Amino acid sequence: MERKPFVGQYLIWVLILLGQLHGHKSCIEKERKALLELKTYLIPVTIAWEQDSALTWTNDTKSDCCQWKRVECNRKSGRIREISFGVRYLKNPLLNLSLLHPFEEVQSLDLSSFGFGNMGFSGLFDDVEGYKSLRRLRNLKTMNLSSNAFNNSIFPFLNAATSLKTLYLQGNQMNGPFLVKELGDLKNLELLDLSSNRFNGSIPVQELSVLAKLKVLDLRVNGFSGLMDLQGKFSQIFHLFI
Ligand SMILES: *[C@@H]1O[C@H](CO)[C@@H](O)[C@H](O)[C@H]1NC(C)=O
Ligand SMILES: *[C@@H]1O[C@H](CO)[C@@H](O)[C@H](O)[C@H]1NC(C)=O
Ligand SMILES: *[C@@H]1O[C@H](CO)[C@@H](O)[C@H](O)[C@H]1NC(C)=O
Ligand SMILES: *[C@@H]1O[C@H](CO)[C@@H](O)[C@H](O)[C@H]1NC(C)=O
Ligand SMILES: *[C@@H]1O[C@H](CO)[C@@H](O)[C@H](O)[C@H]1NC(C)=O
Repeated sequence: MERKPFVGQYLIWVLILLGQLHGHKSCIEKERKALLELKTYLIPVTIAWEQDSALTWTNDTKSDCCQWKRVECNRKSGRIREISFGVRYLKNPLLNLSLLHPFEEVQSLDLSSFGFGNMGFSGLFDDVEGYKSLRRLRNLKTMNLSSNAFNNSIFPFLNAATSLKTLYLQGNQMNGPFLVKELGDLKNLELLDLSSNRFNGSIPVQELSVLAKLKVLDLRVNGFSGLMDLQGKFSQIFHLFI
């Protein structure tokens, strides 16, 4: 018998061992393509974004998108779990939500903007599914939409993200009274940050009980009136910032 097969076998064992030490799956093709589509849609080639992270988002088919900056995968499934966009300069201020649908297992989306002379996003849309769009992301737990230029027009979209536990809307352009029922389907919501917007009128104490799991509510830096009368009126909210 020749010895070559033995060497081959040995090599295979070494490879298996290395694979296990490495211990994670690489990203799936569908999600890699979707990230590149997002990149094209959102980010013009600017020095700022390139310096920050875009260089790792390449269309080299050998590149594992789980290793890209601002992307986290589930190590076992290789599916994307978190994306943080690092929004600086936008080509399109309206976000096409269909572009997010390939990320079926995503739990956290950070669409917050760096501010600093940048207006960020101003609206959301989905020309096929409309307001129901975010219902597709059934594992979504956290969304950070801080420091953009969103107004009240995004509430109907957000209300479809019924798995959400934490929602940051700090530093946008929401105004008028805060109508809790517009987010009334978010039954799992535990933290809601509406600080630094332009809400006014009275704080809807009664209506807030619809969000039965809400523990933290941040309403600071708005134009709400009647803040003095609120002591002790919130039974279920542990941390109220006004
Ligand atoms: C991506 O791949 C295509 C075809 O392989 C190529 O034409 C293009 O220049 C590549 N780079 C980018 C950034 O799209
Ligand atoms: C939004 O994204 C979807 C999915 O990529 C695409 O089919 C649709 O044409 C896009 N709509 C616009 C207006 O860009
Ligand atoms: C949300 O985004 C803002 C602005 O980038 C950032 O300051 C904040 O830390 C983020 N919050 C979380 C919980 O990631
Ligand atoms: C809210 O934002 C959307 C999207 O940018 C815009 O079309 C709409 O006019 C804005 N509404 C108000 C009242 O400013
Ligand atoms: C709330 O602000 C809007 C403009 O954003 C204004 O038209 C309205 O009169 C204000 N309401 C109260 C109660 O201050």
